[in-house]
Amino acid sequence: MASASAPPFKQDPHKLLVIPGPIEVADEVLFANAHPSMSHVSPDFVPVFGDCIRMIREVLLTKDAQPFLISGSGTLGWDQVAANLVEPGENALVLNTGYFGDSFTDCLETYGARVKQLKAPVGGVVPLADLTAALTAAPKPYKVVTFTHVDTSTGVLSDAAAIAETVRRVSPSTLVVMDAVCSVASEEIRFDDWDLDVVLTASQKGLGAPPGLSVLLASQRAVGVWQARKESGVREGSYYASWSKWLPIMKAYEAGQAAYFATPPVNLIYAFHASLALITGKKSAQFDDSVALPTLSERFALHRAASQRIKSAAFALGLTQLPTDAAHAANGMSALYFPAGVTAADLLPRLGARGVIVAGGLLATHKEKYFRIGHMGVSVVDPRRADVETIVKALEGALKEIEEVKARK
Ligand SMILES: Cc1ncc(COP(=O)(O)O)c(C=O)c1O
Repeated sequence: MASASAPPFKQDPHKLLVIPGPIEVADEVLFANAHPSMSHVSPDFVPVFGDCIRMIREVLLTKDAQPFLISGSGTLGWDQVAANLVEPGENALVLNTGYFGDSFTDCLETYGARVKQLKAPVGGVVPLADLTAALTAAPKPYKVVTFTHVDTSTGVLSDAAAIAETVRRVSPSTLVVMDAVCSVASEEIRFDDWDLDVVLTASQKGLGAPPGLSVLLASQRAVGVWQARKESGVREGSYYASWSKWLPIMKAYEAGQAAYFATPPVNLIYAFHASLALITGKKSAQFDDSVALPTLSERFALHRAASQRIKSAAFALGLTQLPTDAAHAANGMSALYFPAGVTAADLLPRLGARGVIVAGGLLATHKEKYFRIGHMGVSVVDPRRADVETIVKALEGALKEIEEVKARK
């Protein structure tokens, strides 16, 4: 059984979950999730919600972006963008590096946006020159440019700072929207320095909490664009995802007052609070205060080191990766082609038998050819766990067994 289940860990024995989200979570997060039921307007709960708003700003290195913490999954972030920032008939440019670019496009179109996509070849990124050309050629500035920081289907990491810089320079009124569902807290994101407008994510990946919370941060510029739309009388395209409903709630909780539009996921907010406290170094591990918590920059360095370890071990075993250039491979996950003659049915159950759960392929055209390993959060930053080595050993053992079986045939 994988090390996460052995003492000093308190959670029930289980196989090591290293898909690219949901991920393994800390004991203290699970414990916080088991908080006794509380009223969502209780004076004890309100500051917990307020702290989450403040701490998520710290994780994304922003002073004044507006967080929206709403019950839902990462997908709800797309709906918020489409329903609040893009009016029907307005144009959007999507930089597509995989499955999630297709889905974001679909969401934007659902709300009536006119979408142009720049599609990268599988495993590649969209060249900045293509972005510049598309922005320059547009008869009217795009309302938004969206891109996926780490596309979970390909493991491709886009250069967020360079994309934002290009858009700001060539098309200053265009909002820069980053789908960071698979990158927040495992890749460095400097919201203010990079001048981003929207970063959207979810609780269940690098943020290290159970699934169920949509996490979105909007720049004051983006909030202004939404405000202008509201004042011009164009209603948001959604009821539940409308910032008219949620902005007053977020502001109230941050100011220490209760407010109600729709019931927040109270227990998940406790869990999210516990995870953010660990990530921002506010609290040493509740169950073992001898454990030193990494700073944010140490956290990102640990993710880079874990990624190197897993990728180089895989390459040594003859595997190759989907990203076509190591410089744009994600640090919180790996997308790896099966070796010749090996299938998902050969490898994944053998990893499972060794206590390690990974994910199959997701990109329709390549689904059968590759698999994905998540290496984020406590699996990477908790020095008491040996999850990265457990993954490497399981991979080595499973591939060896497959070779032996083949040799016997
Ligand atoms: C990059 C990316 N965007 C969006 C989503 C959608 O998030 P959710 O499944 O939480 O709705 C995912 C989910 O894995 C993702 O990886």
